[in-house]
Formats: sequence, C-alpha cells, structure tokens
Amino acid sequence: MINTTFCKIELQSPLVLASGILGTSVDIMNRVAENGAGAVTTKSIGPIERQGHNNPSVIEIENGLYNAVGLPTPGYLNMGDELKRWKEIKVPLIASVYGSSIRDYVHIVEYLQKYKPSIIELNISCPNKDDGMMFGASPRLTSQLVRAVKAVSSIPIMPKLTPNCDNIGRIAKECEKSGADAICAINTVQKTIIHPELKVPLLAYGKGGISGPIIREIALEKVKEIREAVKIPILGLGGITTGEDAIEMLKAGATLVGIGSGVYSRGIDIFKKVNEEIKQIMKKEGYKTLGEIK
Ligand code: DHB
Repeated sequence: MINTTFCKIELQSPLVLASGILGTSVDIMNRVAENGAGAVTTKSIGPIERQGHNNPSVIEIENGLYNAVGLPTPGYLNMGDELKRWKEIKVPLIASVYGSSIRDYVHIVEYLQKYKPSIIELNISCPNKDDGMMFGASPRLTSQLVRAVKAVSSIPIMPKLTPNCDNIGRIAKECEKSGADAICAINTVQKTIIHPELKVPLLAYGKGGISGPIIREIALEKVKEIREAVKIPILGLGGITTGEDAIEMLKAGATLVGIGSGVYSRGIDIFKKVNEEIKQIMKKEGYKTLGEIK
C-alpha cells in the first residue's frame, strides 16, 4: 500500500510531479497522472506575461540538469480555459505561484483558489530571476508573505524553499509559525558554470540552477534539517530518480516525494516505475505502509 495523506488530501502514491516539468497544461498533467503520479504541480504561475530567458536555457550536465528558463508565464489572468479545466485533472493539483511582491502573491492566490487546486505552492526560491529568491532567503520577508497569503486563502499553503540560504530550518520554522500548512524543499542549487575553453557562461542568463542526482545528497540533508525544525508535513525533492531514492527521502522526514529531472532521465512513466520499486523494497524489508518507513 503506497497511498498516503498530506494536508488532509488523499493520494494514491507519494510521488508528485515537481513544478516546472511538464506542468504547463491540463492534458499533459493528466498524462503524468495516468503514468502513476499521486499529484501534479503546475509550472509556476506569475503576475504578468513573461517570456523567460533566451536559449541555451536548459542543458544536461553530468548527473543532472542545469537550467535558467526564467519563469515564463502567460500571467494568471491570461490562462484561457486552462483554469476552468483544472477540475478535469485526475489527481490532486498543486498550483505553483510566484511574484515580485507580497501583493502579487496575494492577488494570484485569491484568483486561483476559485479554481480549487488542492494545495498552493509559494515559489519563493527561484534562482533564475533577479528577485526570485528574495523572499526565500529572508526569514522576515517569508513570514510576512505567508501571513498575507494565509489571510486570503482557504486552500493549504506550501512554501517551496531554497537550499541557497544560511539556515533552511529557520526559514521553515518561520513558515510554520506564520501558518504554512506544509513545506516543499528543495528548489535547484544555484551555480554559475563557465565553459572551460570558451570562457563564457553555459547558459544565456549567466547563472542557473542545478537539479538531478547531483543535488540529491544536499536535498536529503536540507529535508532532515527542516524535519528537525518543524512539525508540518514536507514534500521532499531534489534528485529523486529511483524507488530507493524515494524511500531515502521518506526516511529523511518527507511525506511526499517530488520528481522533476527524473522525467528527463527515465521517461514520463518514471512515476509507475518508482511506485513499483517502492512496493518491491517495502515487500523485501517488511513495511506495510509508508508511515512505517517514516
Ligand atoms: C525556474 C526555475 C526554478 O528553479 C524555479 O523554481 C522556477 C522557475 C525557471 O527558470 O523558469
């Protein structure tokens, strides 16, 4: 049995499609659901239309991906019929939101909650925009933001935290004190990679964020730090590609496990594959429920 509960929401699998990977339309998110994901997350939705960065914006590196896509979005008011169609998604939907000010987040959350996503993810940790990590790196700003959003939202709120900060446990604690219902961690690890011969940055934006197995150990360490700091549930992600990885993330203290870059390395059916691998390991090690693993 790999069903689980998160913020009172029932899921058939602990595996969640991470934000930014395939979460751009209802039809694609339904394909991910059909391929075994327990929940899906949208690409982060922002205040106004934005193009994103020039190419190269995503490249493969050893054991991971390196991206600076730059938060492209139609803007929350320009999503056409997509929002009305959210109710067709076959698994719980996590709506990811970003902004440049508290007012942006509040407006977007107020608007999107009419379309009844199961959870709202506050992306306060994007390394690929000048002010993308402004909130997530500051306990004070994070607290103000979470309080403001909670005041208008009837839907559970889950800030997504960055590993690029001094003390992720402290930020998580501020989120909890301010009323957050869950924590999502980690976003990508910020880095500037320079081409060794050409001496220019690999990505058009200059810097970018790393994901995939190369950041898994960092993700596990940060989730453990958060687990020690708060009681609210955690959606843990960063480099999870196999059932063994997912179980390690549950043992670190997560209730749900996100998969992003893994879709690139193992295909859209990675969710089915990892569900099966989790079941095999549970059978071998004598676990009957995911709760026992935690
Ligand atoms: C992008 C990257 C992120 O890590 C994130 O959290 C949101 C957006 C991007 O470049 O589009």
